[in-house]
Amino acid sequence: MGNFSDRVAIVTGGGSGIGRAVCLQVASEGGHVVVADVKEDRASAVVAEILASGGSASAAVGDLSDPVVVERVVAETMSAHGRIDVLCANAGIMDDMSGPEEVSDAMWERVLRVNLTAPFLLTRAVAPHMLAAARGSIVYTASEAGMRGSAAGTAYTVSKHGVIGLMRSGAVLYRQRGVRVNAVAPGGTKTNLEVNFDAQSEGLKAIGAYAGNVGRIAEAREVAAAIVFLASDAASNISGALLASDGGWVAV
Ligand SMILES: NC(=O)c1ccc[n+]([C@@H]2O[C@H](COP(=O)([O-])OP(=O)(O)OC[C@H]3O[C@@H](n4cnc5c(N)ncnc54)[C@H](O)[C@@H]3O)[C@@H](O)[C@H]2O)c1
Repeated sequence: MGNFSDRVAIVTGGGSGIGRAVCLQVASEGGHVVVADVKEDRASAVVAEILASGGSASAAVGDLSDPVVVERVVAETMSAHGRIDVLCANAGIMDDMSGPEEVSDAMWERVLRVNLTAPFLLTRAVAPHMLAAARGSIVYTASEAGMRGSAAGTAYTVSKHGVIGLMRSGAVLYRQRGVRVNAVAPGGTKTNLEVNFDAQSEGLKAIGAYAGNVGRIAEAREVAAAIVFLASDAASNISGALLASDGGWVAV
């Protein structure tokens, strides 16, 4: 038994890094976790890890920036469990630190789709079920780049500012309807986040001047703990919050 007994959580990007750590913690606290990831081997490995330790989990594989995949994952979860209590819209990709004059159409489209459109599609798909139950918690993984212009390139920075807008909009509109919506802003965290930095990028050269502000690099489980807190009933009076888990970078 635990904080998530009888609860069902969908965690995107659950196969690696912060998402994986969220899956392990929610499962250890008694929840059933839908480990959603585009990489099948990663999702399966996390499911196996949870099952081996006596927890409950299933894999959902696919690109969650595709609305067809999102609808399928949500429909399968509802049909298997009849409820979705928690959505952690966490999957994300980094950009190449390009400034506005350098961003390619492909980079803009891909980063905005995965980091912003996917959380919107997931929210649109789960919200009707949560609202019908008058119960639910949505937590987005934003970023320090959602609060400042010096933590990533233009596409990533815009995508994470957008996620915070998505969070605030949902928090207000679902305020009287039993569904809480929050976000965590990680700072530098040890994960597999794919980086594609072009050392020649003018954006990277400019942002490099701020690199010392990052400070401490966190373990994924430290960031996950903030996400799981917001997802849990311990945060029953918290909605619309942006919680930094960044070792103090937010104060610089
Ligand atoms: N690592 C950091 O320093 C850091 C800092 C701030 C914010 N974040 C954010 O944390 C979140 C988690 O990233 P992480 O650092 O754990 O990275 P990670 O690469 O270790 O994990 C991300 C997972 O998401 C999956 N994924 C990527 N695109 C997907 C898609 N379209 N559909 C389904 N799954 C997809 C990947 O396969 C991967 O398993 C991201 O939103 C990232 O922007 C990370």
